Amino acid sequence: MLEAYILGIESSCDETAAAVVRSGEQVLSNVVYSQIATHQPYGGVVPELASREHLRAIVPVVRTALAEAGRSYQSLDALAVTQGPGLAGALLVGISYSKALAYALDKPLIAVNHLEGHIHAVLLEERQKGNRELRFPLLALVVSGGHTHLYLAAQREDTWSYTNIGRTRDDAAGEAFDKVAKLLALGYPGGPIIERLSPHGNPRAVSFPPAQIKHPDRKEGPRSKGSPPRFDFSYSGIKTAVLRYVEGHRLESSIEARRRNLSLIERPKLEDYLANCDRQTLDLVASFERAMVEDLVEKTLAAAEEYAVASLLVTGGVAANQALRQQFIKDAAREGLPVCFPSRQLSTDNAAMIAAAAYPKFTTRDFAPLEFSAEAALALA
Ligand code: KG4
Ligand code: ZN
Repeated sequence: MLEAYILGIESSCDETAAAVVRSGEQVLSNVVYSQIATHQPYGGVVPELASREHLRAIVPVVRTALAEAGRSYQSLDALAVTQGPGLAGALLVGISYSKALAYALDKPLIAVNHLEGHIHAVLLEERQKGNRELRFPLLALVVSGGHTHLYLAAQREDTWSYTNIGRTRDDAAGEAFDKVAKLLALGYPGGPIIERLSPHGNPRAVSFPPAQIKHPDRKEGPRSKGSPPRFDFSYSGIKTAVLRYVEGHRLESSIEARRRNLSLIERPKLEDYLANCDRQTLDLVASFERAMVEDLVEKTLAAAEEYAVASLLVTGGVAANQALRQQFIKDAAREGLPVCFPSRQLSTDNAAMIAAAAYPKFTTRDFAPLEFSAEAALALA
């Protein structure tokens, strides 16, 4: 096996990250500078602020990644950077910096698709655990704040290829978590706080009819058009359903009170949230999480069955969710399907996944030309 030390750089959204990974399987360092505190007051990522923060953080983050890995710049074999998808201005910071560094060091630069990175976060950790034999066909659910995609992944020698068989038609799953949390004055990002509050509510209290989270295309079933079956998602309906529930049950004033009270606390803890949430809100949150988990698991397993896949991989920020993991493990086991997740740390954005995805490209010398640029809407497959 070709040994290579690759420095990965990621700046597609609100995390500035750098990592050194050996040969796509050993993480020597993994530094993530999160901008959450910057964006929190706005309830979502503000692109201009993200670019500014990346500019501020990138040099120290890369330096720290090298220091923690105990590697010098010269000892690197290649650099890898996220090309897209993501925020154009944010991507450009990582790309410009990587280009300059690669040029100065006279090292090859590898452009990586962020979504492929999320998939390789799992592959990296499976190799680390000694599991080198993932069975194909392999289905990957990439579920994050910006994406909800199903890919069939194939590997021919060192080249990976992907076929998209499902995507969200509107909001990404993580976006739905974030928007519902914002609507209920629970802060940003929404996923982690909704996950922590959910066990305190009744997940069966509020029912979200499946029609609210099914795209009309799916009504006739996946084979309706004679083309290869697709398993698309849709999460804007459930967000609207939560809004209707809030209006119908007159929760607005208690939301405003919560917003006021929590804004007075610098770093609210779970107890602070609980003290400011009534039963109805906790039930709503728990029911929302349950509906999201059930839809993601149900559609993914339907796709797995249709395409007779041999292994399943779930990755991206929302894959950090324990309820989602448990439901996947339980339901996939029933079908005899092995399912792999990244560690919580590698679920959300990081650069180890970028360095890992770059390794097969390093072995095939798939290097980026110096004139390549950010692609905000870069597709995978
Ligand atoms: O992968 P990621 O860090 O960034 C993107 O590429 O989008 O994912 C961030 C998203 C956010 O929407 C966040 O709310 C969601 O992942 N998320 C979660 C959890 N942790 C993060 N969603 C549900 N449960 C969680 N524990
Ligand atoms: Zn991501």
